[in-house]
Amino acid sequence: MDKQHNTVLVVGSGGREHALAWRLAQSPTVGRVFVAPGNGGTACETGMDNVDIAVDEHTGLIDFCQKKGVDLVVVGPEQPLVNGLVDAMQAAGIHCFGPSAKAARLEGSKAFSKHFLQKYGIPTADYAVFSDTDAAKAYVRKQTLPVVIKADGLAAGKGVIIAHNLTEADSAIDNMLQGNAFGEAGHRIVIEEFLEGEEASFIVMADGEHFLPMATSQDHKARDDGDTGPNTGGMGAYSPAPVVSEAVYNNTIERIIKPTLKGMAAEGAPFTGFLYAGLMIDKAGNPKVLEFNVRFGDPETQPIMLRLQSPLDQLCLAALNTQLHTATAQWDKRPAMGVVMAEKGYPQAYPSGHAITGLDTVQNKTDIKVFHAGTACENGRIITSGGRVLCVCAMADDLPQAQQKAYQAVAAIHWGNEYFRTDIGHKAIRSP
Ligand code: AMP
Ligand code: GLY
Repeated sequence: MDKQHNTVLVVGSGGREHALAWRLAQSPTVGRVFVAPGNGGTACETGMDNVDIAVDEHTGLIDFCQKKGVDLVVVGPEQPLVNGLVDAMQAAGIHCFGPSAKAARLEGSKAFSKHFLQKYGIPTADYAVFSDTDAAKAYVRKQTLPVVIKADGLAAGKGVIIAHNLTEADSAIDNMLQGNAFGEAGHRIVIEEFLEGEEASFIVMADGEHFLPMATSQDHKARDDGDTGPNTGGMGAYSPAPVVSEAVYNNTIERIIKPTLKGMAAEGAPFTGFLYAGLMIDKAGNPKVLEFNVRFGDPETQPIMLRLQSPLDQLCLAALNTQLHTATAQWDKRPAMGVVMAEKGYPQAYPSGHAITGLDTVQNKTDIKVFHAGTACENGRIITSGGRVLCVCAMADDLPQAQQKAYQAVAAIHWGNEYFRTDIGHKAIRSP
């Protein structure tokens, strides 16, 4: 066996996982990258193979790692983290980068994370937790509108309602607590103060004690131009985020990241993995935590990975040895942007199975990379198989040029039902 080169498994099938696997595959110390279950994009990369095991098949994933002598596992999505995949892998002696189930509660339960934030004095919106409808409705009547109503558990980014009047608030409370709108995840709700400001994604790698900040980023969660329309997983992202000034950056590290890692260790749940603090930054530059995610952002990962110059496997292995304080990450100084191409209809019902054309025209172009999400490889053709289909990324000397380059690439790609926002980056570019 080749001891010089690590065999790596990436768990997941989205654009985030394609970007992580692509960056891992470029490390001089990585030999082979497997992706379980992967997508049409990871199926086509050299040095990369898809493995037909679902993210919730923990035993199957562990057996695979043991059979192939996998040296490092990187888990992409939150669900297997919340379900204890890292604990199971580590119990089997496999080096698996990600939080334990106990640490993943930071995302898995909003009630847990709000309580944690309050206990450790970390800035966040005021809140209260309810499982009783009448009590929730009575509370809302004492608050200033709008209020934000959130399902407690994982709801794939859909469990947040911003209620502008009491009718909307009451119906959100009824839907979540009585109507079973989010199943088990909504049987407890968090009602919180509405925060104003600009959002940013602050992502660090953590090893339980130390951390290494990733390049800053911002995504666009609303589906349509002008940040309107339904909330989605994210329709585009760019890195760096101009709103994260040096002062905001330092504030975030001191008031949010350090106390969070210290607090989780004190709770007996030291956090190892990618920690994503969704921030709301007010006009004075003070960040508050909107939410924690216990994994990398999607689509933030895609432009961030385009900029990362350091071997990602080495950073993950340093974290697994609690040595992140000795690691550094090098970034390409140029900004990067990713534009998500989705099926028209997403995030509601959408068709799939369309053949994608034009991918070859952007392949091998310098500083352009198309990361796949909802695609599959069928008889040598790439077809659509999900709501968010591709994230078309470009890097250039400044953000307007990165934007232009990304949209030029988008214009060459078609499947007949493609949909994308035309204004990704507008907040950072502030065009007139
Ligand atoms: P979350 O899943 O908690 O990040 O919420 C999804 C989105 O809802 C966020 O990205 C914000 O745009 C919005 N949101 C959540 N909480 C608040 C809040 N307290 N104030 C204003 N907007 C919020
Ligand atoms: N882009 C938002 C997220 O990954 O949750």
